[in-house]
Amino acid sequence: MTGVRDRLLTTIAGQLGNPHGVLGKGVAFVLDRGNKRAIAAAVDAASPPAGATVADIGFGGGVGLGLLLARVGAEGVVHGIEPSPDMLARARGRYADELAHDRLVLADGTLTALGLPDASLHAAITVNTVYFLDDLGAACVELARVLRSGGIAVIGIGDPEAMAAMPFTRYGFILRPVAEVVAALSSAGLIVEQRTLPNTPVPHHLLIARKD
Ligand SMILES: C[S@@+](CC[C@H](N)C(=O)[O-])C[C@H]1O[C@@H](n2cnc3c(N)ncnc32)[C@H](O)[C@@H]1O
Repeated sequence: MTGVRDRLLTTIAGQLGNPHGVLGKGVAFVLDRGNKRAIAAAVDAASPPAGATVADIGFGGGVGLGLLLARVGAEGVVHGIEPSPDMLARARGRYADELAHDRLVLADGTLTALGLPDASLHAAITVNTVYFLDDLGAACVELARVLRSGGIAVIGIGDPEAMAAMPFTRYGFILRPVAEVVAALSSAGLIVEQRTLPNTPVPHHLLIARKD
Protein backbone atom coordinates (compact mmCIF):
# COMPACT_ATOMS: atom_id res chain seq x y z
CA MET A 1 0.00 0.00 0.00
CA THR A 2 2.85 2.38 0.91
CA GLY A 3 4.43 1.64 -2.46
CA VAL A 4 1.25 2.63 -4.30
CA ARG A 5 0.92 5.83 -2.24
CA ASP A 6 4.59 6.69 -2.86
CA ARG A 7 4.17 6.17 -6.58
CA LEU A 8 1.01 8.30 -6.67
CA LEU A 9 2.60 11.18 -4.73
CA THR A 10 5.79 10.95 -6.80
CA THR A 11 3.67 11.18 -9.96
CA ILE A 12 1.73 14.22 -8.69
CA ALA A 13 4.90 16.03 -7.62
CA GLY A 14 6.64 15.14 -10.90
CA GLN A 15 3.70 16.41 -12.95
CA LEU A 16 3.60 19.72 -11.03
CA GLY A 17 7.32 20.25 -11.67
CA ASN A 18 7.09 19.14 -15.30
CA PRO A 19 3.52 18.78 -16.63
CA HIS A 20 3.64 16.32 -19.50
CA GLY A 21 1.80 13.62 -21.44
CA VAL A 22 -1.87 12.73 -21.06
CA LEU A 23 -1.85 13.47 -17.32
CA GLY A 24 -0.17 16.80 -18.03
CA LYS A 25 -3.27 18.00 -19.90
CA GLY A 26 -5.38 17.53 -16.76
CA VAL A 27 -2.67 19.04 -14.58
CA ALA A 28 -2.57 22.16 -16.80
CA PHE A 29 -6.34 22.55 -16.43
CA VAL A 30 -6.19 22.13 -12.64
CA LEU A 31 -3.26 24.56 -12.35
CA ASP A 32 -5.13 27.23 -14.32
CA ARG A 33 -8.26 26.88 -12.20
CA GLY A 34 -6.54 26.52 -8.85
CA ASN A 35 -3.90 29.22 -9.28
CA LYS A 36 -5.75 31.86 -11.29
CA ARG A 37 -6.38 34.03 -8.24
CA ALA A 38 -2.74 34.06 -7.16
CA ILE A 39 -1.55 34.62 -10.74
CA ALA A 40 -4.01 37.51 -11.24
CA ALA A 41 -2.77 39.06 -8.00
CA ALA A 42 0.83 38.72 -9.24
CA VAL A 43 -0.13 40.49 -12.50
CA ASP A 44 -1.81 43.27 -10.48
CA ALA A 45 1.24 43.60 -8.22
CA ALA A 46 3.57 43.82 -11.23
CA SER A 47 1.17 46.44 -12.69
CA PRO A 48 2.75 46.70 -16.15
CA PRO A 49 1.42 49.64 -18.20
CA ALA A 50 -0.18 49.24 -21.63
CA GLY A 51 2.53 48.70 -24.23
CA ALA A 52 4.94 47.08 -21.76
CA THR A 53 7.20 44.09 -22.41
CA VAL A 54 6.61 41.44 -19.75
CA ALA A 55 7.14 37.74 -19.01
CA ASP A 56 5.45 34.82 -17.27
CA ILE A 57 8.15 32.31 -16.34
CA GLY A 58 7.05 28.72 -15.72
CA PHE A 59 3.56 29.57 -16.96
CA GLY A 60 2.24 25.98 -16.80
CA GLY A 61 -1.36 25.87 -18.08
CA GLY A 62 -0.94 29.41 -19.41
CA VAL A 63 -3.69 31.39 -17.70
CA GLY A 64 -1.11 34.05 -16.73
CA LEU A 65 -0.18 34.62 -20.36
CA GLY A 66 -3.78 35.62 -21.13
CA LEU A 67 -3.95 37.94 -18.12
CA LEU A 68 -0.69 39.62 -19.12
CA LEU A 69 -1.79 39.93 -22.77
CA ALA A 70 -4.97 41.68 -21.64
CA ARG A 71 -2.96 43.95 -19.35
CA VAL A 72 -0.32 45.16 -21.82
CA GLY A 73 -2.77 45.45 -24.74
CA ALA A 74 -2.17 45.40 -28.47
CA GLU A 75 1.10 47.38 -28.29
CA GLY A 76 2.64 45.20 -25.57
CA VAL A 77 4.69 42.01 -25.79
CA VAL A 78 4.41 38.98 -23.50
CA HIS A 79 7.24 36.45 -23.25
CA GLY A 80 6.15 33.01 -22.09
CA ILE A 81 9.14 31.04 -20.85
CA GLU A 82 8.74 27.37 -19.88
CA PRO A 83 10.91 24.26 -19.72
CA SER A 84 8.00 21.85 -20.37
CA PRO A 85 7.64 21.12 -24.12
CA ASP A 86 4.00 20.06 -23.58
CA MET A 87 3.07 23.33 -21.83
CA LEU A 88 4.78 25.26 -24.64
CA ALA A 89 2.74 23.26 -27.19
CA ARG A 90 -0.48 23.91 -25.26
CA ALA A 91 0.21 27.67 -25.19
CA ARG A 92 1.00 27.63 -28.92
CA GLY A 93 -2.47 26.26 -29.63
CA ARG A 94 -4.30 28.38 -27.09
CA TYR A 95 -2.72 31.69 -28.09
CA ALA A 96 -2.15 31.08 -31.83
CA ASP A 97 -3.58 34.46 -32.78
CA GLU A 98 -1.42 36.43 -30.32
CA LEU A 99 1.64 34.49 -31.51
CA ALA A 100 0.85 35.23 -35.14
CA HIS A 101 0.65 38.95 -34.31
CA ASP A 102 3.94 38.91 -32.36
CA ARG A 103 2.15 39.92 -29.16
CA LEU A 104 3.31 36.68 -27.58
CA VAL A 105 6.74 35.08 -27.82
CA LEU A 106 7.11 31.54 -26.44
CA ALA A 107 10.47 30.03 -25.59
CA ASP A 108 12.04 27.06 -23.87
CA GLY A 109 13.86 28.40 -20.80
CA THR A 110 14.15 28.34 -17.04
CA LEU A 111 14.40 30.87 -14.24
CA THR A 112 18.18 30.53 -14.31
CA ALA A 113 18.46 30.80 -18.12
CA LEU A 114 15.76 33.15 -19.40
CA GLY A 115 17.31 33.73 -22.81
CA LEU A 116 16.32 37.41 -22.79
CA PRO A 117 18.59 40.43 -23.26
CA ASP A 118 19.69 42.56 -20.29
CA ALA A 119 17.18 45.21 -19.15
CA SER A 120 14.52 44.02 -21.61
CA LEU A 121 11.46 43.65 -19.32
CA HIS A 122 9.16 46.11 -17.59
CA ALA A 123 7.76 43.27 -15.48
CA ALA A 124 7.94 39.53 -14.87
CA ILE A 125 5.83 37.13 -12.86
CA THR A 126 6.67 33.61 -11.76
CA VAL A 127 4.14 31.76 -9.60
CA ASN A 128 4.56 28.36 -7.94
CA THR A 129 7.85 27.69 -9.69
CA VAL A 130 10.69 28.23 -7.23
CA TYR A 131 9.93 24.91 -5.48
CA PHE A 132 11.61 23.25 -8.47
CA LEU A 133 14.77 25.35 -8.40
CA ASP A 134 18.07 24.23 -6.89
CA ASP A 135 19.74 27.62 -7.22
CA LEU A 136 17.37 30.34 -6.04
CA GLY A 137 20.19 32.90 -5.85
CA ALA A 138 21.08 32.42 -9.52
CA ALA A 139 17.40 32.78 -10.50
CA CYS A 140 17.11 36.10 -8.62
CA VAL A 141 20.28 37.41 -10.28
CA GLU A 142 18.84 36.37 -13.66
CA LEU A 143 15.53 38.15 -12.90
CA ALA A 144 17.42 41.31 -11.90
CA ARG A 145 19.49 41.12 -15.09
CA VAL A 146 16.48 41.12 -17.45
CA LEU A 147 14.55 43.87 -15.62
CA ARG A 148 14.79 47.47 -16.82
CA SER A 149 15.38 50.20 -14.29
CA GLY A 150 12.06 50.62 -12.43
CA GLY A 151 10.96 47.15 -13.55
CA ILE A 152 9.19 44.74 -11.21
CA ALA A 153 9.48 40.97 -10.77
CA VAL A 154 6.83 39.17 -8.71
CA ILE A 155 7.56 35.77 -7.24
CA GLY A 156 4.44 33.99 -5.95
CA ILE A 157 4.82 31.08 -3.52
CA GLY A 158 2.46 29.02 -1.45
CA ASP A 159 2.84 29.48 2.28
CA PRO A 160 5.61 26.98 3.18
CA GLU A 161 3.77 25.61 6.24
CA ALA A 162 0.54 25.06 4.31
CA MET A 163 2.53 23.53 1.45
CA ALA A 164 4.34 21.18 3.83
CA ALA A 165 0.94 19.84 4.93
CA MET A 166 0.27 18.64 1.37
CA PRO A 167 1.77 15.14 1.20
CA PHE A 168 3.07 15.36 -2.41
CA THR A 169 5.41 18.25 -1.53
CA ARG A 170 7.62 15.73 0.31
CA TYR A 171 8.41 14.20 -3.08
CA GLY A 172 10.87 16.68 -4.54
CA PHE A 173 9.54 20.15 -3.69
CA ILE A 174 11.98 22.62 -2.10
CA LEU A 175 9.90 24.62 0.40
CA ARG A 176 11.88 27.67 1.45
CA PRO A 177 10.94 30.10 4.21
CA VAL A 178 9.56 33.33 2.76
CA ALA A 179 12.46 35.23 4.39
CA GLU A 180 14.94 33.13 2.37
CA VAL A 181 13.29 34.14 -0.92
CA VAL A 182 13.20 37.80 0.18
CA ALA A 183 16.91 37.60 1.10
CA ALA A 184 17.82 36.08 -2.30
CA LEU A 185 15.97 38.87 -4.13
CA SER A 186 17.60 41.52 -1.94
CA SER A 187 21.05 39.98 -2.53
CA ALA A 188 20.40 40.33 -6.26
CA GLY A 189 20.03 44.09 -5.69
CA LEU A 190 16.21 44.27 -5.81
CA ILE A 191 13.99 46.19 -3.37
CA VAL A 192 11.38 43.78 -2.00
CA GLU A 193 7.86 44.28 -0.69
CA GLN A 194 5.83 41.34 0.62
CA ARG A 195 2.07 40.77 0.40
CA THR A 196 0.06 37.78 1.61
CA LEU A 197 -3.07 36.52 -0.15
CA PRO A 198 -5.50 34.66 2.13
CA ASN A 199 -6.20 31.99 -0.53
CA THR A 200 -7.51 28.63 0.60
CA PRO A 201 -6.35 25.93 1.14
CA VAL A 202 -2.90 27.47 0.59
CA PRO A 203 -2.32 31.17 1.34
CA HIS A 204 0.13 32.69 -1.11
CA HIS A 205 2.94 35.16 -0.58
CA LEU A 206 3.80 37.64 -3.29
CA LEU A 207 7.35 38.98 -3.23
CA ILE A 208 7.32 42.14 -5.28
CA ALA A 209 10.86 43.04 -6.24
CA ARG A 210 11.73 46.34 -7.91
CA LYS A 211 14.94 47.23 -9.70
CA ASP A 212 16.14 50.75 -8.89
C1 LIG B 1 3.28 24.07 -10.36
S1 LIG B 1 3.49 24.60 -12.01
C2 LIG B 1 2.94 26.31 -11.90
C3 LIG B 1 2.43 26.83 -13.19
C4 LIG B 1 1.81 28.23 -13.11
N1 LIG B 1 2.80 29.24 -12.89
C5 LIG B 1 0.77 28.28 -12.03
O1 LIG B 1 0.99 28.89 -10.97
O2 LIG B 1 -0.28 27.64 -12.23
C6 LIG B 1 5.24 24.78 -12.14
C7 LIG B 1 5.68 25.18 -13.53
O3 LIG B 1 7.06 25.58 -13.44
C8 LIG B 1 7.76 25.01 -14.52
N2 LIG B 1 9.18 24.90 -14.09
C9 LIG B 1 9.80 23.84 -13.52
N3 LIG B 1 11.10 24.13 -13.28
C10 LIG B 1 11.28 25.41 -13.71
C11 LIG B 1 12.40 26.28 -13.75
N4 LIG B 1 13.60 25.90 -13.28
N5 LIG B 1 12.24 27.52 -14.28
C12 LIG B 1 11.02 27.92 -14.74
N6 LIG B 1 9.93 27.13 -14.73
C13 LIG B 1 10.05 25.90 -14.21
C14 LIG B 1 7.07 23.70 -14.78
O4 LIG B 1 7.29 23.22 -16.09
C15 LIG B 1 5.61 24.05 -14.53
O5 LIG B 1 4.96 24.51 -15.69
